[in-house]
Amino acid sequence: MSSYVTRKTPGDTAWFTRDRFGMFIHWGLYAMPARHEWVKMREMIPEAHYDLYFKHFNPDLYDPREWARQAKAAGMRYAVMTTKHHEGFCMFDSQFTDYKCTNTPAGRDLIREYVDAFRAEGLRVGFYYSLIDWHHPEFPIDMLHPRRDDPDAREQSRGRDVRKYAEYMRNQVRELLTNYGKVDILWFDFSYGQRQGEGDKAWMKGKGKDEWESEELLGLARELQPGIIIDNRAEIEQDLWTPEQYQPTEWVRHYETGELVTWEACQTLSGSWGYHRDEQTWKSPEMLIRMLINTVSVGGNLLMNVGPTARGYLDARAEAALKVYADWMRYNSRSIYGCTMAEPDLLKALPPDCRMTQSLDGKRLYLHLFAYPFGHLLLRGLAGRVEYAQFLHDASEVRFTEGAVRHFSEGAAKADDLLVLELPPVRPGYLVPVIELFLR
Ligand code: GLC
Repeated sequence: MSSYVTRKTPGDTAWFTRDRFGMFIHWGLYAMPARHEWVKMREMIPEAHYDLYFKHFNPDLYDPREWARQAKAAGMRYAVMTTKHHEGFCMFDSQFTDYKCTNTPAGRDLIREYVDAFRAEGLRVGFYYSLIDWHHPEFPIDMLHPRRDDPDAREQSRGRDVRKYAEYMRNQVRELLTNYGKVDILWFDFSYGQRQGEGDKAWMKGKGKDEWESEELLGLARELQPGIIIDNRAEIEQDLWTPEQYQPTEWVRHYETGELVTWEACQTLSGSWGYHRDEQTWKSPEMLIRMLINTVSVGGNLLMNVGPTARGYLDARAEAALKVYADWMRYNSRSIYGCTMAEPDLLKALPPDCRMTQSLDGKRLYLHLFAYPFGHLLLRGLAGRVEYAQFLHDASEVRFTEGAVRHFSEGAAKADDLLVLELPPVRPGYLVPVIELFLR
């Protein structure tokens, strides 16, 4: 059994840490300008212009079963989709606003279809819900708001009552956690309670747990869906630590107690969450695979994002990236699911350019070869500990010797604790070969 113990949390994270890999989906009106999901804020787009997106939102090619099939093929086991992003537009049929997909040419509840499709593929279903809302009339203007630079921003903001907005959020969270069956993850985003405007914006205040009334909001969510996993971004610690656009190189620890925590890195295929037509920083196949392995090798989950187009499909670049995962996971997922950071004594044997994961039951150790060495892989300290070794992708035996490297100048690399894997000269498998070691 793995000896790593994480800080206890209220939600059910057991399935989550076994499943390891999920799909993030950022989809909303911002797919239409196709210049990042923060476009309204960044470009301070006037309401009248943003309304055009609402008027013309028509995802005629939306087929979430297709997304779900691709997610599943990629080896993803759960998904988290935006039900509302910072722009405030609701992708579900809410009683509490008119600013929702059913009132656009889309004409239907897009979240309902997502939930049905992903469940049908056997994937777990999560909801992202933005705490920030740039459309709601009771949301006070602050320094992250698209109207922050309007000369009359203060007048516009006067009389807005954040308590009414907090109530609106509770109403919507109640809808989301009541009308769609079991929801596995709730992903709130995000708090900036410590921030304050500067200069002529000094009256602008950030928003955090007091404004969101997080205690009540979280309490409501727990009451409606007791086992649900919730992130920490409502400014009150819950189940999930969520490093974003950053890859931890060690297991994430609680900042006060130092305990290991349940964490999930969220990442993009290119540099934007929402569909971005002209963005070019698409990650290479090697990087995509390595990020997944790196994550699990230090005890985390990876939530990899797709930003579907406004017509409702995943563009060719996103599909190609998912295919990279599919091709690798098809034969190598055993080193990901139900795996975690290798035990400290095994990690000591880690050869250069490799990553280890270990099954939670402790019986199998996986060596991921990021760079492919010639001839031999030396594992110091593992002599006597391995019963059998094979490449994971094709279950072909990897022979090994113990005690010494057998080569012409016999004796040059002798050490009693040495385990030496004998490798074929040409790298087998796809992108990152994995060697599976059955431990004694
Ligand atoms: C951020 C951004 C956002 C994105 C999210 C994903 O905090 O505001 O656009 O949805 O991170 O983690």
